[in-house]
Amino acid sequence: MSSIAVIGGGYVGLTTAACFAHLGHDVVCGDNDAERVRSLSKGEVPVLEEGLPELVAAGLASRRLSFVLTAAAAAKTAEFVFLCVPTPQGENGAADLSIVEAVAREIAPVLRPESVVVNKSTVPIGSADLVERLLNENGAVPGTIGVASNPEFLREGSAVRDFLEPHRVVIGCKDTEVAVRVSELYRDLRAPILVTDAASAEMIKYASNAFLATKISFINQVANLCEEVSADVREVALGMGYDPRIGFEFLHAGPGYGGSCFPKDVQALLYSAQTVGYDFQLLRSVHDVNQIQHDRMVEKIANAAGGSLDGATIAVWGLTFKANTDDLRDSPALAIARRLIDGGATVRAYDPAAGERAAGLVPGLEVVSDPYEACDGADVLTVLTEWDELRWLDFERVGAAMRQRRIVDARNLLDPAAMRQRSFAYEGVGR
Ligand code: UGA
Repeated sequence: MSSIAVIGGGYVGLTTAACFAHLGHDVVCGDNDAERVRSLSKGEVPVLEEGLPELVAAGLASRRLSFVLTAAAAAKTAEFVFLCVPTPQGENGAADLSIVEAVAREIAPVLRPESVVVNKSTVPIGSADLVERLLNENGAVPGTIGVASNPEFLREGSAVRDFLEPHRVVIGCKDTEVAVRVSELYRDLRAPILVTDAASAEMIKYASNAFLATKISFINQVANLCEEVSADVREVALGMGYDPRIGFEFLHAGPGYGGSCFPKDVQALLYSAQTVGYDFQLLRSVHDVNQIQHDRMVEKIANAAGGSLDGATIAVWGLTFKANTDDLRDSPALAIARRLIDGGATVRAYDPAAGERAAGLVPGLEVVSDPYEACDGADVLTVLTEWDELRWLDFERVGAAMRQRRIVDARNLLDPAAMRQRSFAYEGVGR
């Protein structure tokens, strides 16, 4: 078993650290937020992520997992140092690498000879070379430290399962011996391991997210067309998905993709293409279609409210960027709620996991802790996140609370026939 440092105690870092400890490695997770380190050391996991609190608790109890302040403190004795720090969207859509760079400078002087620094953060093509150069310039003995790219493919909400049951492990490195050492860390997982050069590994990550975003924009446009020709996009997606070349996943039409990854990574890949003079037309459209899809939902809600949002009361169910997470970053629901408020509507929202925090992010948004209360006096109820619990509510009670029985289901969560039976005017996406 190996000694591993994980730098960054966010979604990716914490999942990586807890899962490596679960696999039997000795893991120290370094973060520069003292409060976070303190609470993680007590087993308090700050994010809603299935299975993660249990793994963190088990790691702490077995002493295979610990948390320390600073990257250097975590890295100094490790054989492998995984960089799991944020790469937020910077100017012009480019990925902002300043945190990765700062960490590389910080750990360079303390790294143990023969250790390997592994980029797990989503970093632009060429970042492995950048990290190697920064290590060498800041005190690492050149030629003694390996650098590899090992992108993550974790989905929020199922990150632990995605780590422990991956579809593939990608390791990009110019030195095959180093790549083999990194691959050994995953030997107990049953997954294909693909060893490539660093640039290809970095591209695999961006191209994967960009392709999934493309699937979503594609099905959203098919859905819009379905509305024009009276087809049902759910049936269409099912019929397409049986073809294994297409597959069922990521063909759910909705309000457009959001979250901390797709919007940012699509922009970053577009920016990378632009810097080398390549026009990635398809991806530009994927992004544009996504923006238009948000607009379309606002229009649907306005139409359901009688043509204007001004003075209307809208009940919103769901605020997170998808279900089973408490993450609000780049949530289509928040973007839509903002637009409704700007249009003059009173918006009263319920979310099972993140209501209170959302209230602080959207001026004028009223947040309540009960889905029925959100519907009090509403002209339209709109479902913006696909929380399963919303499906099973008492719709007689919902209808009785509303001023008018109108639903815009931006996630196709509810059963249209059941809604119409209860006298709701129901509108989904592409059905
Ligand atoms: C995404 C990828 O799925 C992960 O593989 C990747 O590791 C991660 O980004 C990352 O780069 O870190 P995540 O952002 O957690 O994971 O969320 P997804 O489940 O991919 O959903 C992204 C967005 O697309 C959500 O807003 C979701 O509602 C939307 N979506 C997804 C659809 O509108 N339709 C679908 O069929 C699927």
